[in-house]
This record gives sequence, C-alpha cells and structure tokens, in this order.
Amino acid sequence: MGLSKSICMVIFSLFFFSFLAGNAKNPILVNENCSNARNFTKDSKYEFNLNDMLTKLSVSSNSSSASGFYTETSGVDPNIVEGMLLCLGDVSVEDCRDCVITASKAITKTCSVQKTAITWYDNCMLRYSDVKIIGKMETVPSYMSVGTITDHDLYVKSINLMKKLIDKVNQSAQLYADEEVDGGDTKLGKIHGMVQCIIGINATDCVTCLNTLMEKVYKENKDKVWWQMYGPSCMLRYKASGVTPAPTPVPHMFAFPKNKKGKNKVLDLDGVMINAESDESQHMHISLDTIVDATNGFSDDNKLGEGGFGPVYKGKLPNGEDVAIKRLSKKSSQGLTEFKNEVSLIIKLQHRNLVRLLGYCFEEDEKILIYEYMSNKSLDVFLYDPLKSKELDWKKRMNIIYGMTRGLQYLHKDSRLKIIHRDLKPGNILLDCEMNPKISDFGTARIFGRQQKEENTDKIVGTIGYMSPEYALGGKISEKSDIYSFGVLLLEIISGKKANRLVSHNNQYLSLIDYAWESWCETKGLNMISDEEAMLDSSFSPAEVVKCVDIALLCLQYQPKERPTISQIADMLRSNNDGLSHPKQPSFVLQNLLNLDQHSEYEISQTTLEART
Ligand SMILES: *[C@@H]1O[C@H](CO)[C@@H](O)[C@H](O)[C@H]1NC(C)=O
Ligand SMILES: *[C@@H]1O[C@H](CO)[C@@H](O)[C@H](O)[C@H]1NC(C)=O
Ligand SMILES: *[C@@H]1O[C@H](CO)[C@@H](O)[C@H](O)[C@H]1NC(C)=O
Ligand SMILES: *[C@@H]1O[C@H](CO)[C@@H](O)[C@H](O)[C@H]1NC(C)=O
Ligand SMILES: *[C@@H]1O[C@H](CO)[C@@H](O)[C@H](O)[C@H]1NC(C)=O
Ligand SMILES: *[C@@H]1O[C@H](CO)[C@@H](O)[C@H](O)[C@H]1NC(C)=O
Repeated sequence: MGLSKSICMVIFSLFFFSFLAGNAKNPILVNENCSNARNFTKDSKYEFNLNDMLTKLSVSSNSSSASGFYTETSGVDPNIVEGMLLCLGDVSVEDCRDCVITASKAITKTCSVQKTAITWYDNCMLRYSDVKIIGKMETVPSYMSVGTITDHDLYVKSINLMKKLIDKVNQSAQLYADEEVDGGDTKLGKIHGMVQCIIGINATDCVTCLNTLMEKVYKENKDKVWWQMYGPSCMLRYKASGVTPAPTPVPHMFAFPKNKKGKNKVLDLDGVMINAESDESQHMHISLDTIVDATNGFSDDNKLGEGGFGPVYKGKLPNGEDVAIKRLSKKSSQGLTEFKNEVSLIIKLQHRNLVRLLGYCFEEDEKILIYEYMSNKSLDVFLYDPLKSKELDWKKRMNIIYGMTRGLQYLHKDSRLKIIHRDLKPGNILLDCEMNPKISDFGTARIFGRQQKEENTDKIVGTIGYMSPEYALGGKISEKSDIYSFGVLLLEIISGKKANRLVSHNNQYLSLIDYAWESWCETKGLNMISDEEAMLDSSFSPAEVVKCVDIALLCLQYQPKERPTISQIADMLRSNNDGLSHPKQPSFVLQNLLNLDQHSEYEISQTTLEART
C-alpha cells in the first residue's frame, strides 16, 4: 500500500509538473515490435552501426524536410543497418527531433538484441533493419488502436473520409493527405482524417499499402469514434476533433498503481482521453487503497453530504491536500455512462468558476471522483439557513452571481465544446474559502455540437423547481433550458427563498416565480428582499436588485427564444441600469404539472423526474 501511494504521488507530481511546464510535450508511445528472426551480440559491429545510424537520423531530423521523412544507412554488408524516420503530418522540427531521440532510446532497450525493429509514437515512426527497407513497400507488422465509444454513423463517415483521402494521396508529392469535415450532428465536433506514406515508394504502392491496411480496419470494424492504423510504409489516423486518442498506457511512461488482484486497471475514458485546455493529456487515476486511506475507510465522520448519485466524503491525499471524494453508489442511477460522461467532460474543462477534478478511481465496482475541496460547501447551505444567510451580504451575493455567470458562459460559449449542464441549482454551486462560486456536478451534462441548438431526450433528469417548461414537459434541452434554471437561481440568491416552496404574499400562496412577477409589478422586485437587516448592509444596492430581478424574469420567459443568452446576461450585469428591459409575465407551469395544492405550503423534494417513456 505504501508503494502504491508513493507511485500515486509520483504520478501526480509528474502530471502537475508537466502541466506547469506547459509546452514540453513528450512523445507518446503507441507500440513497439522487435523481430526475433536475427539477433546481434553485444559490442558487435552491428550494434556500433546501429547506434551510428540512429545518431545520424537524429541529426538529419534537426533540419526541416517538407515530407518529415529521413533515411540513413551505416556500415557495409554483412553489418549494414538501414533506418528510417517518418514524422507524421504537421509535426514541427523540434517535436520530430524529440520523437526520434525518445524513440531511439526506448526501442534499443526493448529490442536489445534484435537486428530489426519498428516503433510508432503519436508523432513519428522509427524503423531499422539489417535487410533492405528503404524504398520498399511493406504492410507487416502493423498495429491498430481504437477507442471504445461506439458510434456507427461516425464510423461510416470515417470510412468515407478515408476512402476520399486515399483517392487523393497520390496527387501529393509528400504522399500525405488530411482533411477535416463536419461530423454532422455528432456531439464530438469535427472529424479529422489523415493518411500518409513513407517517401521513396511510388504512388501506386502507397495506395496499395493504404488499401491493405484499410482491409484490416474493416476486419476489425468496431464502429469506434477514433481509430489509428500504423504500418511500416503507411499509416491512417482518424478521430473526432472533440477527442484525443488515449495514449496506450506504457509501463515506463505511466506506471499506474496496481489494484489488489495485481492487474492494472485503468479507466479508459471511453477510449478517449480528452485534452484539457492546456492540451496536455492527463491520466489521473488514483488507487482505491489511497482513497480508502484518505477517507478513513469511508467513515461517517468524513461524510460531507449525500449527493444525488451517492455520498461525498472529505479526504486527505498522501500529499496533504484536502479533497472531496464523490463515491457513486453502486445502485445509483449514475451508471458507468454518466460516470464516464462526467470524467471526460470535466477533464476538458478548466475554469476558475468550475469545480476542478483532481482524479478518479474505477476499481472493483467502485466509481469514485476526486474533486478539489470546497471549504464553504454549497450555496444552499447558506441561502436557506436563517443564521448562515446573514453571512451572505449583498456584495457576496453579487460576487456569486458574477462567478456563476462566468462559469456558465464558459460552458455555453467559451470552452471548445458547448455544454448544457441540465441541473443548475444551489446545491451544485460550490463555494471556496473566499466564497467564490464553482459550478459542479456534470453527471447529467450534455455536450452539444457548436451549431446545435436543441436536443430531445426521453430521460428527464434535473430538479423540480429549476427545470424549464419545455424540458420538464417535452424533454427539450438547449442553452435556454440552462438559462431558465439560472433565472430561478438568481431569484433564490436575491430573496433567500426556495424555488420549490410556495411564498405567502398578500394572503395568497405564490410560486417563487409568480411572487417575483408580482413584486416586479409592485416595486420592481425590491420587496423580494424581505429582510430589513439585509437592506441596512452597506453594500446593498437597490439598483442591482432591480437589475437582477429584471434579468431573472427574462430568463424565465415561457418561450426559450425570448430568454437571453448567457453572454447577454453578462453584458446586462455589467451595464448601468439605463437599459432595463420590460419582461413579460414569466411562466410557472409546475403547479399544473404536479397538481400542487395551492393553499398549503408544499415542499417538493429534490428528487429527479426520470424515465419518461
Ligand atoms: C533473439 O533473441 C530473442 C530474445 O532473447 C529470442 O527470443 C529469439 O529466439 C532470438 N532469435 C534467434 C534467431 O536466436
Ligand atoms: C539542432 O539544431 C540547432 C541549430 O540549428 C542546434 O543549436 C541544436 O544543437 C541541434 N540539436 C541537435 C540535437 O542536434
Ligand atoms: C509484431 O509483429 C508480428 C508480425 O506482424 C506480430 O505477429 C506480433 O504480434 C507483433 N508483436 C507485437 C508485440 O505487437
Ligand atoms: C491517383 O489515383 C486515382 C485512382 O485511385 C487515379 O484515378 C489517378 O489518375 C491517380 N493520379 C495520379 C496523379 O497518379
Ligand atoms: C511502383 O513500384 C513498384 C515496386 O515497388 C513497381 O513494381 C511498380 O511497377 C511501380 N509502379 C509504377 C506505376 O511506377
Ligand atoms: C468560508 O471559509 C473560510 C475558510 O475556510 C472561512 O474563514 C469563512 O468564514 C467561511 N465563510 C464565509 C462566509 O466566508
């Protein structure tokens, strides 16, 4: 256990170090293959020539060549060594040189006696032999790697794209072709295809090589969202732009802690390891042993709360860092799909108003997420507690509104993907030690294509009181359904009242939204602040209250198209009050939906509506 902990630490530091280091991108090993046909002995002429050839290759690769292809020969028969290096696509001279240096070191270790060997990296291929290989077209050995997300339509698109590329590769002197096409309504963005041959074979041989490898792809047809096929004379790669193929876990690069059964079990995030915005792929697996230690065996004393999908514990990692550990209950409706969804989503997202995922664990039926620890828990803890709500002065409330807006703007507009959260509510707005808000809980989030406007879903997950009418009743999700929830959140932050409780006003029981409308008509929303003490707070600003109620009512319009986008909301929040809009009466359809008894104070539990057929 001590060992696995220290390995874990090493991995963590490696990640965070490489994160900080920024551009230093290590070449990622795809596969190595040594031929056992003929061996050389230590300190032989062959070994000398091999090292000489590899040195010459690394020197020649240090000057640009349009094709990224280099060959070198050392020695004479019978100790001649031929070698070649192919840097893929648009790899820079620096990355190409780094790749050949890394590849040379690794392959001569793995194939320590074999005269013939080949290795593929994400950036390059290195190959050498004692027999003639320069100018020859060959198709063995080959290596294929594929993702695990299945998407038949995307796969069919990929095959068509590759056929097209093979048709046009013979027009390129570099024997290289690539193209990016729209993936259609796929949520994974554009699809990018690439085919490339070594230089020195003719165009006919290049096409034959590519077609031969394509046959192997068909044979292993797995309908995956990405696949790569590597051969000695040509290679093909295809992926959706929203994903980056997971590097094959290779012992010397990613020494994952072993689980109890001694088998390496690494969560392959649907086969895709999606890049963080820093463009550095990260594996952030933390062993179950470490997590059990960190939480005192998931003790009740460490329990922070119970989320929709299972309990959340406070834990301390071996490096002393406090973390929040979300243990998904085995029976929870957050199945493996949602788990992978959450991990792969949040890994991609880096923003100060989104909670940061530090790692995950997927071992022995356990699905666990490790987040940064937020010392002030979540917004609901403050809003609804008569004492704690006093700690939220107006300035802090506005700061939370600004932060939530930035976080949502990032999700909807600024990150490389468009993400619809689907469950915005105070319990999912976490607060750090400075009361900065961070949006959390991406288990139900959806990725939209950049141009995609809306989606229909059969499974409605969300929390009653925060769901827009078109979502609750018709299963329609869009940016505007999040905006509706955002509007409800605004009203709760302003008034401190719960969305799913009726409010007594002028001898009537009103929903929070109807109450906001009434108070807009009466006092421009100012009477939503019922706590007189709150108005005495020096940071209190009636103008800001009016602005926020105005925005909230716009967010709650029945027609999604009448609701503002998050960017418009950000602009309105920034602007001075002169541009007040005149919202129409918003809708609150929940009473009809649930047959709420209008005359009793009724609290709707925070359960989710699910499984509409
Ligand atoms: C070459 O060495 C490898 C590894 O030691 C061995 O498995 C293989 O049989 C050897 N081949 C020959 C032809 O001796
Ligand atoms: C690559 O070339 C640059 C100058 O062109 C030189 O400074 C550098 O030392 C070279 N690196 C290697 C590894 O040969
Ligand atoms: C190496 O290539 C040979 C021939 O294609 C193949 O049979 C073998 O499985 C490959 N080895 C590895 C480790 O991929
Ligand atoms: C390239 O190949 C296509 C068929 O795959 C053929 O029609 C075309 O003439 C070839 N072009 C060149 C320049 O070889
Ligand atoms: C291409 O090269 C192969 C040898 O690798 C040769 O047999 C073939 O005739 C060549 N084709 C053309 C069109 O030059
Ligand atoms: C939030 O957390 C910090 C540090 O954990 C604490 O000092 C502070 O009192 C908490 N509450 C508020 C309202 O800032």
